[in-house]
Amino acid sequence: MNETLERWSSRRAFILAVTGAAVGLGNIWRFPYITGENGGAAFLMLYVAFVVLLGVPVMMAEILVGRAGRRSPMQSLAYLASAASASGHWRWLGLFGALTVFCILSFYSVVSGWSIEFLSQSLRGEFVGRSAQEIGAGFDAFLANPARMAVNHSLFLLMTMLVVAGGVAKGLERLNNVLMPLLYLLLLVLAGHAATTSGFTTALAWLFTPDLSAVSPMVLVHAMGHAFFTLAVGACALMAYGAYMPDQQSLPRAAASVAVLDVGVALLAGIAIFSVVFSQGMDPGQGPGLMFVTLPVAFADLPFGAFWLSLFFLLLLLATWTSSINLAEPIVATLQGWGLGRGRATAVVGLAVWALGLLSVLSFSTMADVEVLFGMNVFALVSTIPPEIFLPVGGLLIAIFAAWVMPETIARHALGVGPGGFRLWRNLVRWVSIPLTLVVLGSGLL
Ligand code: PHE
Ligand code: NA
Repeated sequence: MNETLERWSSRRAFILAVTGAAVGLGNIWRFPYITGENGGAAFLMLYVAFVVLLGVPVMMAEILVGRAGRRSPMQSLAYLASAASASGHWRWLGLFGALTVFCILSFYSVVSGWSIEFLSQSLRGEFVGRSAQEIGAGFDAFLANPARMAVNHSLFLLMTMLVVAGGVAKGLERLNNVLMPLLYLLLLVLAGHAATTSGFTTALAWLFTPDLSAVSPMVLVHAMGHAFFTLAVGACALMAYGAYMPDQQSLPRAAASVAVLDVGVALLAGIAIFSVVFSQGMDPGQGPGLMFVTLPVAFADLPFGAFWLSLFFLLLLLATWTSSINLAEPIVATLQGWGLGRGRATAVVGLAVWALGLLSVLSFSTMADVEVLFGMNVFALVSTIPPEIFLPVGGLLIAIFAAWVMPETIARHALGVGPGGFRLWRNLVRWVSIPLTLVVLGSGLL
C-alpha cells in the first residue's frame, strides 16, 4: 500500500466527492427523457432494481479496487492482479474505462452547454410569460444554431479542463456541501408546485404504476445502462476516488447513501417534469429536449419565476461541472501515466473531446441525418452506446475482478466490513450482479 498518498480529509469529503460525480445530467436531463421514451413506470421500476442489484454492489467493487490499490486505476489493477498471480492484462480495463468516459464527456459537455445557454437566457428574462409552444420553438431554434451551441460547449469544456489541469478538484468538491442541499430544496419546491397542477396525478400514475407488458429486452438494456451511468459506475472513474478513501470508512454505507441521494434527485426531477408534460398535453417521449422545454414552463408559473429558473440552471451547471471533472480525470491520468505532463495531458484531452463534441453539436443541424452506425447520428451514438454498453461491460469486468480474482483478504479489508458482510456482498456480486448483467447484455444483443 502506498502510505504517502494523500487521503480525503474526512468520511464526508469522500461521500461528497462521489456524490459530485454521481449527481448530474444523468438525474435531471437523461433520466426523465429516457423514462419518457421507455414508457414510464415499468422502466423506472427496472432502473431502481438495477441500481440496487447492480449499481450499488458494483460501485462497491469499483471503489474497493481503488482503495486496495491506492494507485491510479491502471496501476491498481496491475498491482492487485499480480498480488493474485492473475494476468497483467487486467490493467487494460483502466484504459477501456478512459475510452468510455472520453466518449461520454464529448456529449456531456455539449448538453451542459445547453444549461449555460438556458442560464443566460433565463437571466435575461427570456422565458417569462411564454407559452409551452413558444419555449419549445425557442429550444428548436437554438438546436438549429450550431455556432451558438459550439460556443457553449467550448465554454463548458474550458471550465472543466481548467479545474482538471489544477489537480484533483477537492476545493470544488466542497461546493457540493451547499450545492446538494440547495438542489434538493429547489426540486422539492418544484415537485410541491407540481402537486398543484392538473397533470400531477396523471404524472404520478404514469411514473409509479408499472405496465409489465411494456418491458422488452431493449427496455432492460436502457434501464441497466442508465443505472450504471447515473451512479458513475463502470468506467474506473470512481476507482480513482477510492484510492483516496480513508481507511476506517465503511464502503457499503457510503455507496448506499450516494445511491439514495442520486435516485432522490432523479425522482423529484421526474415528478416536476412529467407534471408539466401531462398538464400541457406534451409528448413524454419527445427525447433529449424534454427537460429544457418543460422546466422553464414549470418555473414560469411560480412567483419570481425567472429568478428560480436562473438559480436552477446555475445549480444544474455546477452539478454537471463536478461530474464532468470526474469524467475527464481518468483520461488525463492515463496520459500522465504514459509520461505526459499534467498540463499537456489536459490540453490534449480537452482538444480531442472538444473535436468529438463538435460532431455532437452538428448532429442537431447539418449532420442530423448522417448515420454513423446502427442508423444513429454521432450524438445518438455517443449518448447511447458508451453509457448503455461500455459502462455495463466495464462494470461486469470490475465485478469479476473484485469478486473472483482479487485475493479475499485484500478485498475484505478494502470493503471495510466484517467477514459476514463481506460474504454477503461477494455472493450478491457473484451470483446476482454478474449473471444479471450478462443476461441483460446478452438479451440486448439478440
Ligand atoms: N453520473 C453522472 C451523471 O449522472 C455521469 C457520469 C457517468 C459521471 C460516468 C462519471 C462517470 O450525470
Ligand atoms: Na447521476
